[in-house]
Amino acid sequence: MVRRAVIPVAGLGSRLLPLTRALPKEMLPIGDKPVIEHTIRELVDSGIDDIIIVTSGRKSLIQQHFAPDPDLELQLRATGKHDLADAVGEVSSLAHITYLHQNGPYGNGTPVLNAARVIGDEPFMVLWADDVFVAEVPRARQLKAAYEATRAPVLALMPMELEDASRYGVPIVKEDLGDGRLLISGLVEKPAPDEAPSRYAAIGGYVVTPGVIDELEARTRAWHRHPKGEIYLTGALHDHARTHPVYGQVIDGTWWDTGSPLNYLKAQFAAALAHPAYGPELRALAQDGGAP
Ligand code: G1P
Repeated sequence: MVRRAVIPVAGLGSRLLPLTRALPKEMLPIGDKPVIEHTIRELVDSGIDDIIIVTSGRKSLIQQHFAPDPDLELQLRATGKHDLADAVGEVSSLAHITYLHQNGPYGNGTPVLNAARVIGDEPFMVLWADDVFVAEVPRARQLKAAYEATRAPVLALMPMELEDASRYGVPIVKEDLGDGRLLISGLVEKPAPDEAPSRYAAIGGYVVTPGVIDELEARTRAWHRHPKGEIYLTGALHDHARTHPVYGQVIDGTWWDTGSPLNYLKAQFAAALAHPAYGPELRALAQDGGAP
């Protein structure tokens, strides 16, 4: 059973500077919600509501967004704004969220290891908070189903253009098992397009097992003996895949990567156009070129 999920958010968001100088990239709006709220809702919709956010002191706005605020709710109710009070209350009761401060070497493996020390000996999901998925079956549910079928580490994949390979972890595919499931023998982090081992991108969704955590532990111990380089989850998965089965699951849905300025604006634009209440007017505005 995958009961818990980890969302690392301590990264600096440097690709989106200076926009992210004060505002965490996870708090940028996509449609009418911050990116991280989409991620939390995706997990809850997939049956996972026990969530650890691995954060840093710079990101206190995230905690503020999900914290209960009874004074605000009371004030809203006193002035008859029950809908807004309900909406505020709903966000703070979406999930059981625990916060940890990231501590250790640079790299995205460190927050995973920090959380694993709290979670203990069980598989858990890891989602980076800069992807938003629009899917009939949420990405996290598709990933969870793949883990339940294989009982092995699984990574979420999407097809990509080869020219984008240098932005992603790219899997080495050993066997195509059908229904989007692939057996993987390794992962190459951000290869040049002509060195990409496949046309799939790892899109920041993983189910990791205690075996993968052992790899992260070993890498971190080695780092403390010789502090050099960074600790990457990709590296740990790659090493694990050499001796154990690791699977990829191609996700069915639309993927918005919000981690770069152009992709963020595309995601924002698409979400605005798809908004159930405001979409039609915004589509009309987009069609006439934004003329008043
Ligand atoms: C990270 C991972 C990479 C993955 C990507 C997905 O890279 O290291 O393997 O493909 O997320 O968003 P980052 O985007 O943090 O550079």
